[in-house]
Amino acid sequence: MNNIAEQITRLKKEKNAIILAHYYAPPEVQDIADHLGDSLALSQLAAKTEADMIVFGGVHFMAETAAILCPDKTVLSPAPDAGCSLADSVETARLAKWREEHPDGIVVSYVNTTAAVKALTDWCCTSANAVKVVESLPEGHPILFGPDKNLGRHIMQVTGRKMELWDGVCKVHDVITSQAVTDALEKYPDADILIHPECECSGDKSLIENGRILFASTAGMLRHVAASPKKTFVVATESDIIHELKKKNPEKVFIPIVPGMCCDEMKKVTLENILESLETGKGRVVLDETLRSRALLPIQRMLAL
Ligand code: 13P
Ligand code: SF4
Repeated sequence: MNNIAEQITRLKKEKNAIILAHYYAPPEVQDIADHLGDSLALSQLAAKTEADMIVFGGVHFMAETAAILCPDKTVLSPAPDAGCSLADSVETARLAKWREEHPDGIVVSYVNTTAAVKALTDWCCTSANAVKVVESLPEGHPILFGPDKNLGRHIMQVTGRKMELWDGVCKVHDVITSQAVTDALEKYPDADILIHPECECSGDKSLIENGRILFASTAGMLRHVAASPKKTFVVATESDIIHELKKKNPEKVFIPIVPGMCCDEMKKVTLENILESLETGKGRVVLDETLRSRALLPIQRMLAL
């Protein structure tokens, strides 16, 4: 173990802290995390941990979600400027206006949103449970889904439900078109193609129906690979998930669908700023209590489903 990792381990013990990290965090951050997970698993872990302190190895909205769930804990965001093109795309004033104009409307927001947006939301969802959340909604109400229009189109295809979509995208995943997937199917005839539903191609019915393609959250991809007899997988999501895929499946082969699918925001979390946060408390997420308790409702609904 190198020196910085040793210092992190010692401080974690002293402060009864845990490190939660997403699969897109840099590999060295993944390696020192107590738990790795997709957005859903990380929310569930934050909700039930007995630690006094959570250090979040991910972008800021993830740490903020943990702080909404854990008012009695100290939640640290080592890179508080680590943003997300989805979370940045929603103006709360426009969302509030939609609510006013649709008194019987239902707002479903992806977890990649700010606390202020969650406070205007009826149901939260992640890529792992978005279909289930939308299927559970009562018929006959207008639904606004945001901010990821690619995930929204995917849910509409799978559930047959009509929704109004916010015009947001993940800048990392939006580059993956149906053509890129068709090319991969041809180039790697023995491989399964793992696609995150934030990709541009996610509303393409022919891809959804293709038996060699799996649309899934990051954790869904890991489960599929572990259970599959196949040897080769084309990966259409942020490329550092391959670190964990390889660790868990050393005998299998993982090919990024395009080179350089990298979320620069996730890479802002480093061992150095994790250590600094643990030492000084830098990056503590502090939320107004009225906002926090309102933002909690859609997350609790999701977790109870
Ligand atoms: P999941 O891990 O929930 O699939 O989310 C992907 C993502 O883009 C997080 O920012
Ligand atoms: Fe946001 Fe996309 Fe980065 Fe995830 S990969 S944090 S959705 S910009």
